Amino acid sequence: MSETWWRGAAIYQVYLRSFADGNGDGVGDLAGLRARLPYLSDLGVGAIWLNPWYPSPMADGGYDVADYRDIEPSFGTLAEAEEFIAEAHALGIKTITDIVPNHGSDRQKWFLQALEAGPGSAERERFHFRAGRGENGELPPNDWKSIFGGPAWTRIADGEWYLHLFAPEQPDFNWDNPEVVEEFHDVLRFWFDRGVDGIRIDSAALLVKDMDSLGGEEAYTDLDGVHEIYRGWRRVAEEYDDRILIGEVWLPDQERFAQYLRPDEMHTAFNFDFLACTWEAVALRCSIDLTLATHIPLGAPPTWVLSNHDVTRPVTKYGRADTSFSHADRKHGMPSDPVLGERRARAAALLAMALPGGLYVYQGEELGLPEVEDIADELRQDPIWIRSGRTDHGRDGCRVPLPWSGDEPPFGFGAGPTWLPQPLEWKALTAEAQAANPTSMFTLYRTGLHLRRELLGDGTLTWLSGAQDEVLAFRRESGLVCVVNLGQEPVSLPEHESVLLASGPLEGNLLPSDTAVWLRTA
Ligand code: GLC
Repeated sequence: MSETWWRGAAIYQVYLRSFADGNGDGVGDLAGLRARLPYLSDLGVGAIWLNPWYPSPMADGGYDVADYRDIEPSFGTLAEAEEFIAEAHALGIKTITDIVPNHGSDRQKWFLQALEAGPGSAERERFHFRAGRGENGELPPNDWKSIFGGPAWTRIADGEWYLHLFAPEQPDFNWDNPEVVEEFHDVLRFWFDRGVDGIRIDSAALLVKDMDSLGGEEAYTDLDGVHEIYRGWRRVAEEYDDRILIGEVWLPDQERFAQYLRPDEMHTAFNFDFLACTWEAVALRCSIDLTLATHIPLGAPPTWVLSNHDVTRPVTKYGRADTSFSHADRKHGMPSDPVLGERRARAAALLAMALPGGLYVYQGEELGLPEVEDIADELRQDPIWIRSGRTDHGRDGCRVPLPWSGDEPPFGFGAGPTWLPQPLEWKALTAEAQAANPTSMFTLYRTGLHLRRELLGDGTLTWLSGAQDEVLAFRRESGLVCVVNLGQEPVSLPEHESVLLASGPLEGNLLPSDTAVWLRTA
């Protein structure tokens, strides 16, 4: 099996609006990111995945793309993006961009043309326009619901309705139309030609719709026709050297999930089963085994994800009585013990870094940032907030601009007030404060990522026999042994030569509760 960069890479996710602000407008941008490239290189990441950086009205944080071949002006210019890609390459860091094929923005050229051209036109065939039901077409064509809440249809002035699985500002493309297929092949080539190394495919399982279906997720999730689309994308990727496709595929059924990783489709996909798993040894071990069993026969490397821009921050999640995650119930406001949460998040980080395959680190995870729960209602930006009838706080709490340095907001993020306010307590969590502290979350990630490059990454694992039910213990090919104690009582360490890294203090030869350790063995 060929050993290529992406199989075992640590990939750092940059949510650009909240990473670093270079021009002082309170919103992160390419200038801010370029200035912080040395930070990412020092942290030890092999690639950067950027959330959508295209021109966008920002109805959904950039996942409403108005032009797939340019850069959002508040982020910078296309020339700056190309310079960024080159600078990252010079540091040995690959670039992955996010392509959103399920839907565009309602300001995207094609949608504006479709509105103008009227019912029955070829322009409307690029989307899902339909007449309504009822005497005067006043009812939506069917009862499908938007994933963000409310109906999945919006009516326009001439009486037709269009489909949007997400917000009304995000009309869904019609993937039965060959023009749509061609357009996205061209968009892929546009970015590959500019040196991009990989594409993260947004909402990848949702592109094909069964319009006769009464609704529910089965009407648009994981329909068989979607695979032909990714076979086409793979052919485009293979026109270039070493470019990869990574799918955002949320599917509970691992056999269905695995189909996206067949050799002529995507290279990898995010492992959401692991992300959503509770902090329990049996559940985690099942999730890891299931992941390996799904991937190994396909020759595809697994991925390990603890967080991203759509989910609750790990230190908050793991500090709660219920440590599971689901989009349907984000558990906002459920009390979280910050000490316990941090302890577990540190152990989870060493676990994820030690597993075979690729690793994703979402910005701020390395600083141990908590979910920000108390954003004022009028400042909330996530469309989920409004569309849920102000019942679901949505995802703003994991998207607050990063604290870099100093004692008060904006903590070195930029010059002025940030687009979402930062908590004052983040003074203790700045990158600057943590870099100087040998026991900080940042130091743990930095040390772990550097060791991981040498000793971990792609490959397999062997579970150690004799470990208690509450303990995860496995050996990697390099001889590194990872042990995680999820029980209440300390456990003895297995035989080893030395301790390479621990997520918290050891008690002699005992590994305390909610602690992970990496051991060098013969
Ligand atoms: C994906 C993105 C999410 C976005 C949605 C619609 O799930 O990760 O942030 O809101 O797709 O594009």
